[in-house]
Amino acid sequence: MLSLLLVHLLFPPLYSNPSQNCPVSCLCYDSSNLLRVPSNRLTALTYESLRHLESLEKLDLSRNFLSSVEQGAFRGLSRLRHLHLQSNLLDAVRGGYFFMLQNLELLDLSDNNISSIAVESFTSLHSLRLLVSGNPWVCDCDLQRVFGKITSVRHLHIDDYDNLTCAGPPQLSGAALVSVDNQLCVAETATVLVITITVLVTVIAAIVMAERNRKKTQEKNWNDPDGPFETQDNDFPKNTVVFL
Ligand SMILES: *[C@@H]1O[C@H](CO)[C@@H](O)[C@H](O)[C@H]1NC(C)=O
Ligand SMILES: *[C@@H]1O[C@H](CO)[C@@H](O)[C@H](O)[C@H]1NC(C)=O
Repeated sequence: MLSLLLVHLLFPPLYSNPSQNCPVSCLCYDSSNLLRVPSNRLTALTYESLRHLESLEKLDLSRNFLSSVEQGAFRGLSRLRHLHLQSNLLDAVRGGYFFMLQNLELLDLSDNNISSIAVESFTSLHSLRLLVSGNPWVCDCDLQRVFGKITSVRHLHIDDYDNLTCAGPPQLSGAALVSVDNQLCVAETATVLVITITVLVTVIAAIVMAERNRKKTQEKNWNDPDGPFETQDNDFPKNTVVFL
């Protein structure tokens, strides 16, 4: 299929007509710098697939069977503004996929098989609207952190955030992400709080114990006819361990 694609690309005038709509299952490459390859049963994009398309501004690969994209597959598309990958079988978005797409404005990843995402995938881009609904999101604290980070970066925006639903974990299956997102990190936050408080209490208890032992030792030494000097080493008793 991809070799067919390349053959088409090498002879665009024979196959495309800017004044016509692209027929389904055909490749159209015209003066508007749009490449459409929807519904073509593409299964993978390799490092070589999209070579020699430097001037491309829009690329539509929607409704294929793409399950893998090789790192660097999009590297030459420096002028690309719109990338349509919706309705494929992509299951991961990795850090290096979109790295070179410095002019990307719209990335449609809706209706794929993506359950988690790495925030580094997008932070190098200048300005991006993302579509990510219709994926089986696992709504956990990690996801919340990633989306929180994406939405906190000014040039990134998730257009369909309100439409995201959780596929997991089981107790959240089917829930709208927007209705549960502020609870996803509660357990983690609580754990961190408990640990912090425990450590604090431990430290305070240790200080109190040390102080108490020091006073005791001092009193004992003053009462001791041999004077305070003998037991000076005990100022900080070695066995001041903490009882909680
Ligand atoms: C979607 O991804 C899961 C693993 O995350 C995999 O088990 C499943 O087969 C994928 N579904 C499709 C239709 O590729
Ligand atoms: C969200 O879903 C509604 C209902 O399906 C739809 O009308 C709307 O266009 C979606 N919003 C986005 C931004 O995709």
